[in-house]
Amino acid sequence: MSKKRVLTGYRPTGRLTLGHWFGNLLNMRELQEEFEAYYFVADWHALTSDWQDTRGIRQFTEDMVLDWVAAGIDPAKSTIYRQSDVPEVAELTMYLSMVAPMSWLERVPSYKEQREQIAEKDLSNVGFFLYPLMQAADIAIVRSNVVPVGEDQAPHLELTREIVRRFNGQYGDLLVEPQAIIPKEGARVPGTDGRKMSKSYGNAIYLSETEEETTKKVMGMVTDPARKLKTDPGNPDICPLHQIHKLIGDASAVAEWDRCCRVAECGCVAHKCAMAEDLNEYLREFRTRRAELAKEPGYAWEVLSDGAARVRPAVDQLMSDVRRSMHVDSGV
Ligand code: TRP
Repeated sequence: MSKKRVLTGYRPTGRLTLGHWFGNLLNMRELQEEFEAYYFVADWHALTSDWQDTRGIRQFTEDMVLDWVAAGIDPAKSTIYRQSDVPEVAELTMYLSMVAPMSWLERVPSYKEQREQIAEKDLSNVGFFLYPLMQAADIAIVRSNVVPVGEDQAPHLELTREIVRRFNGQYGDLLVEPQAIIPKEGARVPGTDGRKMSKSYGNAIYLSETEEETTKKVMGMVTDPARKLKTDPGNPDICPLHQIHKLIGDASAVAEWDRCCRVAECGCVAHKCAMAEDLNEYLREFRTRRAELAKEPGYAWEVLSDGAARVRPAVDQLMSDVRRSMHVDSGV
């Protein structure tokens, strides 16, 4: 019996953070064992919002592949490819645009929100409007059965399902309606300032940064704001230092930091020193592997070209079915 397919993609917008590690990477690593996994770099999706400055895309694509592989996404198990290496995604987006009513795209919540909230980018372009449609094409083109999505992506997946149903209703049952899998309570990782970890808040710890950089960030972290003096009892439940420590540290050691904080027996500076050491230890294997991969010239591009070749049969099959069903082939 063949395995079901899982697919997910990320826009290449920068190096990955500890937030991605707990939010996505561990999950992707697990899914590749159970499913036939397709993981792709959504470089065209990066263009939709960053079309005015595309210089970072190539480097970020390479970074993402190195981060993935160093994190244990195994290119021998998972098909890792770049969206733009499958130009049929554009063709399928165009076919899907025939069946998708404009109003469906207009009502996608992230579309309105981002146009209102992101002031520094011009998002009035058609490409950005087509973002969810291209996402539907990404999913449909490999006949993916499941797509792991965070809460923010759920409406995009719902739209994909609606478009697939409408397409199938018109042209025959050939696209697969994908299921969302909401990852197990993907640990929410706070940034150094206590807000959600995000590159745009400037509070991120990058997986591939140096130990010195990590230590410096941890030493500057926000702790329980009510705890002014070492003699004040602290509340670990609202302390981002504790929250990260719980994710990466030895459970009994972390429990002891929790206890001694509550009774004001230990101070935040000592805890930061210990946490920084533990975090660097936790990331050491990843960092060593990543540095080794980065030394091999062209490694990331080899992974991507191998992935492009491996995704090809699925794409060719699906596209010839679609063209035939829409009568845009020769009919023979
Ligand atoms: N929208 C996703 C993001 O915000 C990227 C993406 C593009 C994607 N196509 C996809 C995710 C298909 C899952 C499936 O990064």
